[in-house]
Amino acid sequence: MSSYFDKAFSPATLGSMPLKNRIIKAATYEGKTPDGIPGDDLLNFHKAIVTGGTAMTTIGYCTTEADGRINDQMMWMHEGIRDWLTGMTRELKRISPGAKVSGQMTHCGNFSKNAKLMRLKRPLGPSRRLNLIGAVAGMPIAGSMTTADIDYLVQTYYDAARLMKETGFDAIEIHFSHGYGLSQFISPKTNRRNDTYGGSLLNRMRLPLRALDAVRKAVGDDFPILGKMGLTDGIKHGLHIDEAIEVSALLDKGGIDALICSGGTSSFNPMMYFRGDTLEKGLIEVEKNPLMRLGLKMIGPRLFRYYPYQELYFLEDAKRVRDRVQCQMVYIGGCTDVQSIETVMQEGFDFVQLGRPLIKDPDFVKHAMADSDYKNGCTHCNRCASLIEAPGGIYCPLNT
Ligand SMILES: Cc1cc2nc3c(=O)[nH]c(=O)nc-3n(C[C@H](O)[C@H](O)[C@H](O)COP(=O)(O)O)c2cc1C
Ligand code: SF4
Repeated sequence: MSSYFDKAFSPATLGSMPLKNRIIKAATYEGKTPDGIPGDDLLNFHKAIVTGGTAMTTIGYCTTEADGRINDQMMWMHEGIRDWLTGMTRELKRISPGAKVSGQMTHCGNFSKNAKLMRLKRPLGPSRRLNLIGAVAGMPIAGSMTTADIDYLVQTYYDAARLMKETGFDAIEIHFSHGYGLSQFISPKTNRRNDTYGGSLLNRMRLPLRALDAVRKAVGDDFPILGKMGLTDGIKHGLHIDEAIEVSALLDKGGIDALICSGGTSSFNPMMYFRGDTLEKGLIEVEKNPLMRLGLKMIGPRLFRYYPYQELYFLEDAKRVRDRVQCQMVYIGGCTDVQSIETVMQEGFDFVQLGRPLIKDPDFVKHAMADSDYKNGCTHCNRCASLIEAPGGIYCPLNT
């Protein structure tokens, strides 16, 4: 066993928070919040992760407001679920002493098919654009936020962060990537504004940095804030690696505790972060709406481009960010072998986030600690990912 193996599976500190090892469950929207309620299914999913030895689990898609949801089954941070959230974090920490719970704070911006909007009439992003995912819900066009909408959005980050801290979350991960709300502002492809929130990178970062500042004010200095950022949108006129490195520097300067580097966007290029088998077939299989099925068949080949799986597929670009920032670094993307975890440690990353490997085997950490040659078994078939909107949400069909 190498010293990097020991490093990975020994206690560490994220910001000022102690973790029992350096393995963190990546945010994977679970699809287990029927009518927005984080009930037993969600709890049981994360119980398996924390009892399997993972130092910190991340609850996926903690939307900052009701209209930040992609669909009406997602949960949003509000008083009505305070007791559910408190019960969930308390139980996860009771059942696995020392385990920590993070929540990924998100807002969909203009990428929504949620027909039950509460405050808005249609989804809003930085600039007016087609919202193909919302066409069936009668919202084919997304609008552009006014500065009052932007101020409101920042306030939702503040309020949601307070609620999350009060309900027992130990950390917050702000989603700056994958084509959702804040990432729509960062990307030159989707941000066509000509006010102080568009144009130069500094202007496009104004809202994301305001959101970070609001979260920091809500949780205080001693509370870890992670940020998941994009290395590239993977599309013409989108965010590219050189600019992404400057994004990382701005987030670092803005007070983020740790950065997680991903890439691609749900709206243009999702396979960039879901490397492996295509999602197209699985999504068509579970889609109930015939119009959506037809739409998926039509746009599928263009949307779900082929990116063959390889271990550590974001490593080289993530190293460029690592070299630019002072904050801690969390590696994500294709870390299925124990040897890959060691490589990430050797490359100087502080933590590693695992998504599919922990869906496949929630006990992966325990198994790896007992046997460094342990094989995780995830084939990157992405069938779990195609189940995010299926009844009951995600699981690994290979385990059944
Ligand atoms: C079922 C599923 C749901 C996901 N949902 C999210 C999400 O809500 N937020 C996010 O940032 N990434 C999401 N992802 C992407 C993962 O966090 C991660 O970036 C990706 O799976 C690559 O890591 P891995 O190779 O360890 O799986 C999801 C992935 C899967 C498989
Ligand atoms: S369905 Fe299972 S094997 Fe396939 S990608 Fe998901 S976790 Fe891995």
